[in-house]
Amino acid sequence: MKPLIIANWKMNPQTLTNAKKLFNVVKKGVKNIKNVEVIICPPFIYLPTLRASAFAKGYGGLALGSQNCFWEDEGAFTGEISSFMLKNIGCKYVIVGHSERRRYFKETCVMVNKKLRAALANNLKPILCVDSINQVKRGLKGISKKEIKKIVIAYEPIFAIGTGKACSISKAKEMNFSIRKILGETATILYGGSVNPKNAKDFIEKAQFQGLLIGGASLNPKEFVKIIKKVSQI
Ligand code: PGA
Repeated sequence: MKPLIIANWKMNPQTLTNAKKLFNVVKKGVKNIKNVEVIICPPFIYLPTLRASAFAKGYGGLALGSQNCFWEDEGAFTGEISSFMLKNIGCKYVIVGHSERRRYFKETCVMVNKKLRAALANNLKPILCVDSINQVKRGLKGISKKEIKKIVIAYEPIFAIGTGKACSISKAKEMNFSIRKILGETATILYGGSVNPKNAKDFIEKAQFQGLLIGGASLNPKEFVKIIKKVSQI
């Protein structure tokens, strides 16, 4: 399996022009890299424009994902966006249960579980963010083994998110193995939290993750492409 590198742009950049610029610089930078799957998760509002850019001539193999979804397909849910809509607009992936959603928007594991089910039902690949074994177990509660195989897990220790203080390789490796023990050898597990061009390779080579979820560094195209290049050389 190719390593996955996921860019979580969060609520950035502030303008559509800058979103297009960032996307296109990354697209160019990874054009010849075939052995890494790169997924960009911009704010919802930029998805349709970036989709057009992704499929335009010179498509460099970037896939699109969203940072959240709602669990119903349609209806009276003001301000929400469904998995169905995201699939329709060209998303392949959706991040579910990011720690910022849990913290600022009070998302619980029950809500996360519903979102995962909706994403799976709509053929979107969920990336479930967790910072503990408890969140893995509660998030996946009642989901069949067959369906769980389609879910990517991202281990993101809260202390490492946006702080510049990444998790130690040994602790990350330990969590990776603990999650793998629950989900099976073939599980796809990523690391996220202050990943940069210096530490990226180690999380894959030494801590044996299948990829990375990148926030801050994904907003700097030079750094982000550097990370992808390093991973492609493993
Ligand atoms: P960071 O964010 O890379 O800026 O630490 C990671 C994330 O929140 O997914």
